Amino acid sequence: CGVVGYIGYRQAQETLLQSLVRLEYRGYDSCGIAVVDGDLKVFKDAVRVADLAAKAQPLNGTFGIGHTRWATCGEPNQANAHPHQDCTHTIAVVHNGTINNHVPLRSRLKSQGHVFTSDTDTEVIAHLIENHYHGDLASAVRSALAEIEGSYAVAVVHHHEQDKLVVARKGSPLIIGLGQGENWVASDVPAILGYTNRVVYMEENELAVVTRDGIKLWHGDNEKIPEIKHVEWTAEQAHKGGYDHFMIKEIHEQPRIIRESNSTSIHSGVKDAELSGILSLDPPPSILILACGTSYHAGLIAKYLVEELLGLSVNVELASEFNYHRHRTPEALAIVITQSGETADALLAMRRLREHGTKLLAITNVPGCTASRLADETWYTGAGPEISVAATKSFTAQLKVIYRLLLSCSRLERRDFDRLTLALRLLPSAIQGVLDNQLEIRSCAKYLASCSGVIFIGRGLNYPIALEGALKLKEVAYIPSQGYAAGELKHGPLALVSKTTPVVAVLGRDTTHDAMLTTLREIKVRGAPLIAIAPKGDDGLDGLADYIIPRPEVDNLVSPMLNAVVLQLLAYYTALELGCPIDMPRNLAKSVTVE
Ligand code: G6P
Repeated sequence: CGVVGYIGYRQAQETLLQSLVRLEYRGYDSCGIAVVDGDLKVFKDAVRVADLAAKAQPLNGTFGIGHTRWATCGEPNQANAHPHQDCTHTIAVVHNGTINNHVPLRSRLKSQGHVFTSDTDTEVIAHLIENHYHGDLASAVRSALAEIEGSYAVAVVHHHEQDKLVVARKGSPLIIGLGQGENWVASDVPAILGYTNRVVYMEENELAVVTRDGIKLWHGDNEKIPEIKHVEWTAEQAHKGGYDHFMIKEIHEQPRIIRESNSTSIHSGVKDAELSGILSLDPPPSILILACGTSYHAGLIAKYLVEELLGLSVNVELASEFNYHRHRTPEALAIVITQSGETADALLAMRRLREHGTKLLAITNVPGCTASRLADETWYTGAGPEISVAATKSFTAQLKVIYRLLLSCSRLERRDFDRLTLALRLLPSAIQGVLDNQLEIRSCAKYLASCSGVIFIGRGLNYPIALEGALKLKEVAYIPSQGYAAGELKHGPLALVSKTTPVVAVLGRDTTHDAMLTTLREIKVRGAPLIAIAPKGDDGLDGLADYIIPRPEVDNLVSPMLNAVVLQLLAYYTALELGCPIDMPRNLAKSVTVE
């Protein structure tokens, strides 16, 4: 969910709606705003922000709050859309998070005579504030939140206190954007880009009163001086820049992003003495990698590379699973990969590991995110804001950081260092080559658009890429797709293969190549259409594959990044063929701040 708030001199309605559009990638089941225009006016519905903007009556007020929702508690409909109000309709609340004890709170409030109008957990906050309100909104919010178990980023307005927004954070991100005679609050930086670059990142258990002229901030009961940070991202980065969708714009940004980080710190050697110290320990330490979604696929590739090139043993786990089994022996180092830095499952895992004394390294794309504040050290992926829900450039940028991590490690042998350095230097132009020659990808996408299921396979380094290809296709084109290790096909998934279920095979030029060809033959004799993504001039595929998507030759060590781009384009054009809402696929959100 995305939370926004504005107080200043502009028309709040327009400002809030503009900010909400920029936060829609956090959820878009429904949206709403509350603006004080004489009375407290609320407009909300289970529609996209643009549709709400088209039908909301013009309001004349200079402060208010807004919300874009990713439903967790209560189906996406108008009643459940935020803002939520109390019985007197003088209070409005927007909330991101989950309230674990909302059921007992609701029944207690009901028994006290409160009337509920939605199925959401959030509505209890409005009624609790109503109970505690005796003329001071900040203390009413504080007392209400003290009764709540769970996570929240909340923004609250009161009709009788027209000079302030009250906001609070526990477990869900919240920032305050600072202007001159105006201030903003938001879940995330893109909401305020173009208005201000000066930001206060709220910490856990903080509450703030935001007025037109400033903010007052408390950590627990103690007032504290806000620390103002400068945001580097620009408003232009959060625009489509002439492309039809953010996804395709972001795919096209990849050569530049990789080139830029190539020229900065790739040769910097030791970035952090302590980290390098851990990686150089004798006997070698074990490493844990934790991540979710696409970032998990980057983690699987990292495992392969670290084990292969550094000889260290690596465990990779889905953060959501790690959180629900007993942690055996605490690893010396945990690498948490999370583009948003706000994924609840990943943050929970980080908090658990901190208790064990494990050193935490975060790889993330969002400056100031919670993961970076929980970590001992953060490596930023530097991809700029990624707006499309389906991760593309943030994934390749994560891989790039993983390669840089390897290069910074004294365990890496000189010849591998030189090999990797050269491979990374040549990679951006190879990716550009893919972007400049999309003919085969587009014709293949036309075909895939007619299929009701697709299987992706790969081996070794390109097995996680097969998983990622399948994830991309199901995310944006809604085609049931599964990724498998090629060798596992014969142990079950082969039963799915038929004349109408194509197999997309991701090949590299390495020791897995011949085994991949064997698997392709097994598929071919069963009549399934075969699509092969392979380096140009792979003769082994002649007469075997129905579609060949040739890609430039690169060192196999970096081939996952190139193959990922091919699969991103394949998913994008398939979704385009099917007319899917590419940047905002149904039911998904970019930053999932609930468990
Ligand atoms: C969401 C996004 C995915 C992302 C996953 C993990 O589900 O839609 O694109 O891979 O979260 O996100 P993270 O920010 O932790 O990398």
